Amino acid sequence: MEILPGTRVLVTGASRGIGRALAVDFAARGATVGLFARGRDELEALAEELPGNHFALPCDIGDRDAVGAAVASFVSQAGGLDILIANAGIAHYGPFMDVALEHAEEMVRINVLGTIYTVRAGLEHMLGRAQGHVVVVSSGAGLRSFPWAAVYGATKAADRMFAEALRHELSGTGVDLTTVYPGEIKTDLHAHEQDRLPDWYRPKDAVPAAEMSAAIIKGIEGNKREVFHPPLVRLLRIAHGISPKFGDRVLRVLRGGNAAPRVD
Ligand SMILES: NC(=O)c1ccc[n+]([C@@H]2O[C@H](COP(=O)([O-])OP(=O)(O)OC[C@H]3O[C@@H](n4cnc5c(N)ncnc54)[C@H](OP(=O)(O)O)[C@@H]3O)[C@@H](O)[C@H]2O)c1
Repeated sequence: MEILPGTRVLVTGASRGIGRALAVDFAARGATVGLFARGRDELEALAEELPGNHFALPCDIGDRDAVGAAVASFVSQAGGLDILIANAGIAHYGPFMDVALEHAEEMVRINVLGTIYTVRAGLEHMLGRAQGHVVVVSSGAGLRSFPWAAVYGATKAADRMFAEALRHELSGTGVDLTTVYPGEIKTDLHAHEQDRLPDWYRPKDAVPAAEMSAAIIKGIEGNKREVFHPPLVRLLRIAHGISPKFGDRVLRVLRGGNAAPRVD
C-alpha cells in the first residue's frame, strides 16, 4: 500500500521502541498517526513533537472495550483507518519455573489477546472499503522458541499463527497483511530485566529501531507477506523448518550452547 500525505495509520506501542520509530517515520511522510500505549504523558509529548496532526489515544490493549473505544475514536477524528500496526508487546524472560504466573498471564493478555483485540477493532473499520493494510509484529522467537523465553515465545508464535490464517481470510477484501519477525532490536523491551537475560541473548548485536521501522514500511509498500529484520532472522525459519535438530545445531554455532542445551 502506498503511504501518502493524509494516510491514516494506527500504531500500538507507539510511545517507545519500534512503535515510536514507526510513528516518527509515518509522520515524516505526512501520514496522520493514532498513537496507542498506556502512558498518556509520553503519547501526548510525542504527538506534539511530530510534524503534522496526530492523536494520542492512551489505552491498555489488553482491555478489549478500551481498545474498541480508542480505535473508534481515532477513526472518527481522522476520518478513517488505512494502516493498522499491532506492535505493542512485553517480555518477561527467565527459567520457566521462576516466571511468576502473573507475568505469564500478562504476556498472554497483552501479546496475544491485545493483538487480537486491536486487529478485530481495526478491521471493523477497514473491511468494506476495499483497501487497507494490517501489520502484526511477532518475533524471531515466534519462529523458534528459546530457553528462558518459553511463554514469550509461545505468545509470539500465537501472533504468527493468527496472522498467517487471517492473511488468507482477508484475500479478496482489499485488506493486506504483513507479519513482522524482528530479531534483537535496541529498545526498552528488556530494560526491567537486565539482570536475568539468558546467555544466548546478544544486546551488542541489536540493531536500531529506526532500521526495523524502515523494513516494516518497505514491507507495507511492497505488500510483503513477511518481514524479517535483521535479515538473518529468516534463517531461524529455514533451519528449524528443515529439522529442529538442524536448527538447534545452527543456533549452537551462532548463539552458544545455551540456545539449545539439549542435544539428544
Ligand atoms: N526489541 C526487540 O528486540 C524485539 C524483538 C522481537 C520482537 N519484538 C516485538 O516488538 C514489539 C515492540 O517492542 P519494543 O521492543 O519496541 O518494546 P518497548 O520499547 O518496550 O515498547 C513497547 C511499547 O508497547 C507499549 N505497551 C506495552 N504494554 C501495553 C499495553 N498493555 N497496552 C498498550 N500499549 C502497551 C509500551 O507503552 P506503555 O508501557 O506506556 O503501555 C511501549 O510503547 C513487541 O511486540 C515485541 O514483542 C521486539
